Amino acid sequence: MNEKFDDRAAYVDIVNRVFTHLDAGTTDSNPDVLRVPTSLYTDPELFELEKETIFRRSPQFVCFSSDLPENGSFSTFDEMGVPVLLTRDNTGAVNAFLNACTHRAGRLKDGSGKTASLSCPYHAWGFDLKGQLRTVYEEKTFGTIDKSYYNLVRLPAEEKYGMVFVGLAPDVKVSIDEMLGEMAPLFASWNLGTAKVVNRHEWHMKTNWKLALDTFCEGYHFTPLHKATLGDVSHGNLSLVDYFGPEQRNHRVAFPNTSIAKLRDRPQSDWGLEIFHEFQLVHFLYPNISLLVSPSAIELFQLYPGKSVDEHMTRYSCYWRTQEGGPGWGVDDPQAHFEFVRDIVTKEDYWVSANVMKSLRGGLRSFNTFGRNEPALHNMHRAFARGVGRVLEQAPLVKDGQQ
Ligand code: FES
Ligand SMILES: [Fe+2]
Repeated sequence: MNEKFDDRAAYVDIVNRVFTHLDAGTTDSNPDVLRVPTSLYTDPELFELEKETIFRRSPQFVCFSSDLPENGSFSTFDEMGVPVLLTRDNTGAVNAFLNACTHRAGRLKDGSGKTASLSCPYHAWGFDLKGQLRTVYEEKTFGTIDKSYYNLVRLPAEEKYGMVFVGLAPDVKVSIDEMLGEMAPLFASWNLGTAKVVNRHEWHMKTNWKLALDTFCEGYHFTPLHKATLGDVSHGNLSLVDYFGPEQRNHRVAFPNTSIAKLRDRPQSDWGLEIFHEFQLVHFLYPNISLLVSPSAIELFQLYPGKSVDEHMTRYSCYWRTQEGGPGWGVDDPQAHFEFVRDIVTKEDYWVSANVMKSLRGGLRSFNTFGRNEPALHNMHRAFARGVGRVLEQAPLVKDGQQ
């Protein structure tokens, strides 16, 4: 018997934890700082290992259900090192395949759209949306083949809570419930699959993918770096950090808005779901997703390693959550909101991470330090180390370049 999940109680708990920190002048913390070698961001060998292990062996978020809106919808993904084709077949199920024909590996589809079947542009072999080979062009001249050996290479895929994940190898286990762990009920309550895309933006940068990711994981930088844009809106250096999923490798950081103070004037018994307006929930989904969910919008950041250790691409997709409705629930102008977020990342967060990469390239500084107040970074980098079969130890304390 499933009791109904109480999302209001989850939000009330967040607000109360924030108030405790505000009263004490504290933030969620780890007992010690963590020094990490700067080679985490510059070592080409580690970078190759990350692509082979962390990326190839973990389920990958690819899109929301609304990106495959109807039976016959398809979409392609090429950023993960394996060309992937997603289809929604005529039963409504999502399928993932290697985007390659089984004759001589012709690419089947580009971009996204709607189709009744898959016809290879090279020699016109035809597949259905479940990946089964249906027709061989000029079969009499081609010769006899057993078609059952020529279905598309299927990749594991799962759709749940409005999200679609795939594995890049047939033996990768994709379980969204396992991945979300104790956060699953909250994701279920959000009904993310109905959100509609507002706009997308890509950054192709000379920055290691993890340096870019780091900017999403702490609020310590909010007041100094985002003074002009978020300074009045968000509490700097106060965040709640919760871990979830396999080996607790995912995290959620709750960043309170300054407006949260007004809730002190209302009895807790009056608080409803609208208190979700008073904080931002930023989720890290291992290995490369930053997902901000708010009452009105979803900000999805998908980060991919580039060709070399100092290159990466981030795709930002802004989605609008229309289903809640009601006056005052959301911001009025989705496009303006998209541009606001895009510009903050461009001019502030990613401006910084590009500069950091320039500084690290020379190898003159051997370690960076994550503060006690940046606990999600400790956890995320320890998980990345585990992902490549290593353990992240304290980097040696040395006086690089000091007299
Ligand atoms: S490669 Fe697809 S039909 Fe020949
Ligand atoms: Fe930031």
